Amino acid sequence: MSIKRKLFGRTKSGQDVYIYTLENKNGMRAEIIEYGCIIHSIVLPDRTGVERDVVLGCQTLEDYENGFGAIGSIVGRVANRIENGVFTVGGRTYQLETGRGKHHVHGVFGRTVFRGSADGDKLMLDYLSPDGEDGFPGNLNVRVTYSLTDENGLVIDYTATTDQPTIVNLTNHSYFNLDGEGSPSMLDQILTIYASGVCENDADTCPTGRILPVAGTPFDFTQPKPIGRDIFSDDEQIKMARGYDHNFVFDKKPGELGLVATAYSERTGIVMDTFTTQPAMQFFTAGFLGAIPRPGKNGARRSNYQGFCQETQHYPCTPSHPEFPSIDLFPGDRYHETTIYRFGVR
Ligand code: BGC
Repeated sequence: MSIKRKLFGRTKSGQDVYIYTLENKNGMRAEIIEYGCIIHSIVLPDRTGVERDVVLGCQTLEDYENGFGAIGSIVGRVANRIENGVFTVGGRTYQLETGRGKHHVHGVFGRTVFRGSADGDKLMLDYLSPDGEDGFPGNLNVRVTYSLTDENGLVIDYTATTDQPTIVNLTNHSYFNLDGEGSPSMLDQILTIYASGVCENDADTCPTGRILPVAGTPFDFTQPKPIGRDIFSDDEQIKMARGYDHNFVFDKKPGELGLVATAYSERTGIVMDTFTTQPAMQFFTAGFLGAIPRPGKNGARRSNYQGFCQETQHYPCTPSHPEFPSIDLFPGDRYHETTIYRFGVR
């Protein structure tokens, strides 16, 4: 595997941002930007040998900065929602910034320049999040490491340490389309999720605490089905989210690296297997993308349901639900999670 680096752009605040190209021996490539650790592209040949770029992205750094929906980026310190922006850790209660509505959503990492360095076949992106950033306690040392395997897996490895009790829940927010960037919809792509439970949402997309069995509902992806099959159903949960914006609870053991989802395009033959150590995944179908004025990398217009996100993570609003797996991190402990998006052709 090789890694090359070149300048991508300069942020509004004057920071130079580099883009790294990772390439494996099969000719599969991934481009990663220091800004937000964004996955700018993942390029591989389809069934007929035509190269497809299977993630959505922007044309310029400025477009990423003017951003939408955390496209391609790492999200954190805590992915998704923290109800009312309030949590308690180490016996103290903290109030966070609440950007969207009354809840804390996603945090600042997707809009932060991480410092990249290549070591052999690994690209490391580092950031020291200062005590108090977004309202979180503790200086948090974060490292996101990307690499490409010979089996066409893009490996994302996350580590973090802190000097005060805090909470952490990192994920990646790429929008995938296995027909390639520029195709208008991913609704006929076929998905399996190895999860027999899903968190019920309230009207603000916060989990109520109930985990619903997926059997017999539009949330049942335990057998392969087109993503769009039930997406316009009358189900209240689906209508509220304009599709899927829900936390699927995996059947595998938390902490173990296991296969959690498989997506497939009959048109291109491209298959994506997702492996993770994480216990759950926000499956998000982006029913609003058409409202974004900025085009995609190849100039194509945005449209609703153009990409799907598989945000492997701990559950949203964990601090409000002590029964959910903990996201607490204490000094001396090391946060460590891994997700692999592995590609092939059928
Ligand atoms: C959230 C959505 C949100 C999207 C873009 C997802 O993780 O669950 O509600 O609109 O990210 O920020």
